[in-house]
Amino acid sequence: MKHRSAQSSRIFTAVVRQHRIIRPRYRLLTLELDAKGSAAFASVMPGQFVEIDAGPLSLPQDKDIPAELLDSAKRNIMLRRPFSFSAIRHKGNKFEIDISYHVVGPSTVRLTTLVPGDSLNLIGPLGNGFRIDQSRPIAVLIAGGMGAPPIQHLAAHLKSHHPDMRVTAFIGARSLDEIPFDIGTDPDGGIIFPAFSSVGVPHAMTTDDGSFGVKGFVTQLVEKLLVPGPFQTDKAILYACGPEPMLTAVSRLAAKIGVHCQLSMERMMACGIGLCQSCAIKTRDPQAEDGWSYRLCCKDGPVLDGKDVIFD
Ligand SMILES: Cc1cc2nc3c(=O)[nH]c(=O)nc-3n(C[C@H](O)[C@H](O)[C@H](O)COP(=O)(O)OP(=O)(O)OC[C@H]3O[C@@H](n4cnc5c(N)ncnc54)[C@H](O)[C@@H]3O)c2cc1C
Ligand code: FES
Repeated sequence: MKHRSAQSSRIFTAVVRQHRIIRPRYRLLTLELDAKGSAAFASVMPGQFVEIDAGPLSLPQDKDIPAELLDSAKRNIMLRRPFSFSAIRHKGNKFEIDISYHVVGPSTVRLTTLVPGDSLNLIGPLGNGFRIDQSRPIAVLIAGGMGAPPIQHLAAHLKSHHPDMRVTAFIGARSLDEIPFDIGTDPDGGIIFPAFSSVGVPHAMTTDDGSFGVKGFVTQLVEKLLVPGPFQTDKAILYACGPEPMLTAVSRLAAKIGVHCQLSMERMMACGIGLCQSCAIKTRDPQAEDGWSYRLCCKDGPVLDGKDVIFD
């Protein structure tokens, strides 16, 4: 009963204000939250997420669906899908949020049909976001692929709420086609991501295939720059979001150089509010008989302390 009322107080409607293509399969959706949603977002933290109900949206025409998704996109949508936000802004007495998304299946294919003025039903904000550790003012942000949105949000949040912190971002993607940001140039002609430069966060980019930025995995670049380096100190912390192999590498690097890290984990989520147990993550638990127990990605996370997560 308690779960149901907590959930209903966070169900709200958002209106599409902008929707544009960033890369062929990556889009940026700007939503204006209604009064209830705006109230729920008053103290939102980067790393929290919303559950979107794309079920009522129509399918695009076949010619507008990526060929390899033609079959899967037509599946019925039984469940909401989780999405983080890449930015949040005050708009009068309401909030506007940006959702960057990758078109991968039935819900995200349907999202591509949204135009300004359309409505979406959302639940959120859900989960626990990044916990800002003010005793560690050297923040190294690491994003991989679609882990980029909450890291972009975190960069802006740290600069506006903790201006004395030293913040640097490292962003990795498989290739240029999979970079979920606009790309710009600085006055000297250098390539930049306005999402980070506009909030004053220096950043570096890697791609696995070398089609943009430094060739290799983002964690390799981070390791090369940080070991040994000024971050090898109890004043530093790594904040990361991305695919599990990247988070495993971040967790190992943090242990190797002796810094704290917080990881935003990803699991398939059925309910998003701690009821179905479908999003379990194996974590260290000194109180448990075997020294470990499961935590729920949607409720205890998605952000967990790196030292607590057990990667198999
Ligand atoms: C906390 C959280 C935040 C997220 N934020 C974003 C975001 O900002 N932008 C974005 O594009 N996506 C985000 N995702 C992922 C997004 O929820 C999924 O891609 C979603 O399932 C897409 O729905 P779909 O119906 O289009 O495709 P689906 O059919 O649901 O999924 C397509 C394929 O991706 C696989 N898949 C889906 N979700 C996951 C997962 N969590 N882990 C591993 N494989 C998965 C499925 O098995 C399937 O093969 C987030 C996920 C979580 C848990
Ligand atoms: S998604 Fe249902 S418990 Fe986490």
